Amino acid sequence: MKIRGELPADDAAIHELTRVAFEPMPFSSGTEAPIIRALRAAGDLTLSLVAEDDGAIVGHIAFSPVSIDGVHAGWFGLGPISVRADRQRQGFGKALIARGLELLREQGAAGVALIGNPDIYGRAGFESDGLLAYGDLDRRFVQRLVLSGPPPRGELKFAPGFDV
Ligand SMILES: CC(C)(COP(=O)(O)OP(=O)(O)OC[C@H]1O[C@@H](n2cnc3c(N)ncnc32)[C@H](O)[C@@H]1OP(=O)(O)O)[C@@H](O)C(=O)NCCC(=O)NCCS
Repeated sequence: MKIRGELPADDAAIHELTRVAFEPMPFSSGTEAPIIRALRAAGDLTLSLVAEDDGAIVGHIAFSPVSIDGVHAGWFGLGPISVRADRQRQGFGKALIARGLELLREQGAAGVALIGNPDIYGRAGFESDGLLAYGDLDRRFVQRLVLSGPPPRGELKFAPGFDV
């Protein structure tokens, strides 16, 4: 397994991987793949990593800036994240998250927030203390991992690319 930053030529593969991975998910908006392109076009794709296996892209993760109570203070959103169906539960997702966190830490990020299944992201160190909100969504799904500084409190807002 190799994890590397995206290259311009990866765009179509990332788009298709994301589209297909989210298609069967009941919670999917169907906009995850276009979101990645919108973030990239807006210069908000802070980090875009792919996982390669035998030369094929089998996983992808995106990180983009978020605001908390309207303030951008070094926090980033995790997602979308996708692993090809036939390669899920083999550690690719975990490796993509770990590498992304490592790079953001090196860049001096304050932390990473996400909306997702606590069973999956809790294993990667994410937790919900109920202080971070996302509309009226159950706060157990609004998770964060602090890299430096105090735990954030307030309303989480993702980059405009998520509104496609
Ligand atoms: C979510 C996703 C990216 C996880 O990638 P993955 O490569 O399968 O995950 P990993 O194999 O690295 O597993 C990471 C941990 O999460 C757990 N996990 C993975 N999928 C899970 C699931 N559906 N339910 C519960 N736990 C799960 C694994 O057991 C593992 O825990 P461990 O370290 O204790 O063994 C992948 O399943 C996927 O692409 N799903 C479709 C798209 C999607 O739902 N994206 C996320 C939206 S929030």
